[in-house]
Amino acid sequence: MKFIVCDDYNEMSKEAAAIAAAQIKEKSNTVLGLATGSTPVGMYKELIEMNKKGEISFKDVVTYNLDEYYPISPENNQSYRYFMNENLFNHIDIDMDNTHVLNGLADDPEKECESFDKAIEEAGFVDLQVLGIGRNGHIAFNEPDSILYAGTHVTGLTQNTIEANSRFFDSVDQVPTKALTMGIGSILKAEKIIILISGKDKKEALKKLKGEFIDPQCPATMLMAHRNVTVICDKEAWND
Ligand code: PGA
Repeated sequence: MKFIVCDDYNEMSKEAAAIAAAQIKEKSNTVLGLATGSTPVGMYKELIEMNKKGEISFKDVVTYNLDEYYPISPENNQSYRYFMNENLFNHIDIDMDNTHVLNGLADDPEKECESFDKAIEEAGFVDLQVLGIGRNGHIAFNEPDSILYAGTHVTGLTQNTIEANSRFFDSVDQVPTKALTMGIGSILKAEKIIILISGKDKKEALKKLKGEFIDPQCPATMLMAHRNVTVICDKEAWND
C-alpha cells in the first residue's frame, strides 16, 4: 500500500484528479469505479475543470458507482444517482448511458446486485476505483462485521452511518435504512484503487490502514490484500 500525504484537502483532491486524468489519457475507454460522499467532491471539481479546458475527455469513459440507498428514487436529491449527476456527470462530456449507478427502485434488489457484478465483469472490470472511507472504516456500505460479503449485495445501514448521513436529510428518520452496495470482493477486483481520506474524524480508520492487521471490524483493512492501492490523505487525517 502506498501513502501520499498532502498538506490539505485541496492538494489531496488535485493529486487524486491527476491520477484519474493520467488513467483516462492512457486508456480513453477507462472503466472508472466512483464513490459518493463529501470527500471526492473536490476531485470531481478538478476533473470537471480539466474536461472544460480540453485536457481530458470522458467521451469513451465508463463508470460504475459503489452503492445506492434502497429504496430511493434516482430523482430524489439524496440519491447517489442524483449526487453523481450534480457533482460530475452533468458537467463533463460523458455519455450518460455509460454511467452506472445501482437502481434504488429495483423490484428485485438481489437480481439488480447480481446483474451489476455481471455488467462490471463484461466491461472488463474496473481500471481505477476511487474510494472514500467512513469513520468506522467502512468502504461503500460494507460496514464493520464479523464476515464481509464478496459480491454486490443488499445490506442494512448501521446506526453510526445513518447518523453520519442524516446531515444531508431533513431528519434522521428520512435516511433509508438499507442500501445496495458492491462487496469487498467486487472492489478488490479493480486493477488500481485510490482511497481518499480527509480530516481528523478519519484518523482512527487511517491508523488501522497503516497497521499490520486485516480486520473485518475495519473493512478498509481488506485493501491490504490488493496489489495496487494508493492512500491519498491530508495531514489532518495522517498526524497522530
Ligand atoms: P464522506 O463519506 O466522504 O462524506 O466522509 C465517506 C463514507 O462514508 O464512505
